[in-house]
Amino acid sequence: MPEHPPVKDFATDFDHTDPVWVKNPYPIWDDLREHCPVAHSDRYGGAWLPTRHSDVSAIAHDTDHFTSRTVVVGPGRPGEDALPAPIGVAPPITSDPPFHAHARRLMQPVFAPKQVDLLEPFVRELCAKLLDPFKGKDAIDASVDYAEHIPVAVIAKMLGFPEQDGDLFRHFVHEILESVDLPVEERMDRFQPIADYFIARIEEHQAEPKDDLTSFLLEAELAGEPLAPEHIFGTMVLLIVAGIDTTWSAIGSSIWHLAQHPEEVARLKANPELLPTAIEEFLRAYAPVTMARLVKEDFDYEGCPMKKDDWILLSFPAANRDPEFFEDADKVIIDREVNRHAAFGLGIHRCLGSNLARMEMRVALEEWLARVDTFSLADPDAVTWSQGQVRGPRLLPLSLG
Ligand code: HEM
Repeated sequence: MPEHPPVKDFATDFDHTDPVWVKNPYPIWDDLREHCPVAHSDRYGGAWLPTRHSDVSAIAHDTDHFTSRTVVVGPGRPGEDALPAPIGVAPPITSDPPFHAHARRLMQPVFAPKQVDLLEPFVRELCAKLLDPFKGKDAIDASVDYAEHIPVAVIAKMLGFPEQDGDLFRHFVHEILESVDLPVEERMDRFQPIADYFIARIEEHQAEPKDDLTSFLLEAELAGEPLAPEHIFGTMVLLIVAGIDTTWSAIGSSIWHLAQHPEEVARLKANPELLPTAIEEFLRAYAPVTMARLVKEDFDYEGCPMKKDDWILLSFPAANRDPEFFEDADKVIIDREVNRHAAFGLGIHRCLGSNLARMEMRVALEEWLARVDTFSLADPDAVTWSQGQVRGPRLLPLSLG
């Protein structure tokens, strides 16, 4: 593992994998927002961190100066030849305009509200099945025994992959998102089994098409041509990464919050119609996803001398805590009325799966609240949080009853 010295000053040397950040990033962002709103670090070959909503929004909307060619910060810069523009490694999230709009439009019907509604009974049944064994227990882990299983099963079903491959998927997500410390070659080696797995599933679907997302991609066309094989493959990898870790984290953080607020649990049980509003607040306050951009050419952003290929760590979670944009930004208010949060991103890459994510969160929390009477953190210090650009609890031991 490369050296990862502890951070002494987040304004000049930030690192999103630092244990202090992983445990509790909010005070760091609050401090930076006040004293150094666009922080800089030489780590990862040069990176910038905007913490104000206005800067995060301006950069997310500025596709002239910033590229999405790669959205996960690492030590190297994958070259244009490794990730040919405009598709990028995982379209549409890694595609720039104008190709991005085509790749995105293609995927829109898959996540339309009607399609998402069709999946709701499956999610409800799945949650009930996961919660049944909790009966009579006085200790469970809300991440390991519940949250992490839900999005995995949903994506496996959508893609037409074997349901029992859930553990493998979680391993893939970990390899892609959490191995940011590793040199590029090692990350590539680790990616090979993932590539082999996807190619095998694609070949199965080519031999025997089915009514699922994999066959949809294999049959899809852009400008009258079938999708390039690397486009199909990249979109499938994106769905695994974008769909699993994110929603798992969002469900886990919501339960983590509720486990510390029995009065809010009682309120939500008495007023279930409040749940969608509470979910928006959990998404705002504990937004799980930070994405990256690369600076296209040397350029001065608001007095920051940005260099070609510098990273931008685009912290939607920090934007969501900006007191200039949200009243009582640091408070979790489950009936917050005005809540234009950025948890699903800003600009052209705004989350395509937001309908699906919201449905999964709502059903997961509805079933949880209906079936789990009282719950609290077994030991606040035993909770662990993921490292990297998607934040959520990975161990969440609870006491029941
Ligand atoms: C609570 C859960 C989720 C959160 C917080 C979330 C957040 C985000 C964010 C912040 C972006 C913007 C990325 C950028 O600007 O670079 C994004 C994009 C995306 N998300 Fe999600 N996401 C979630 C769930 C999902 C799910 C369940 C899916 C699909 C299975 C999904 C699919 C996508 C796709 C395809 C994009 C790329 C859109 C584009 O580039 O036009 N997401 N998501």
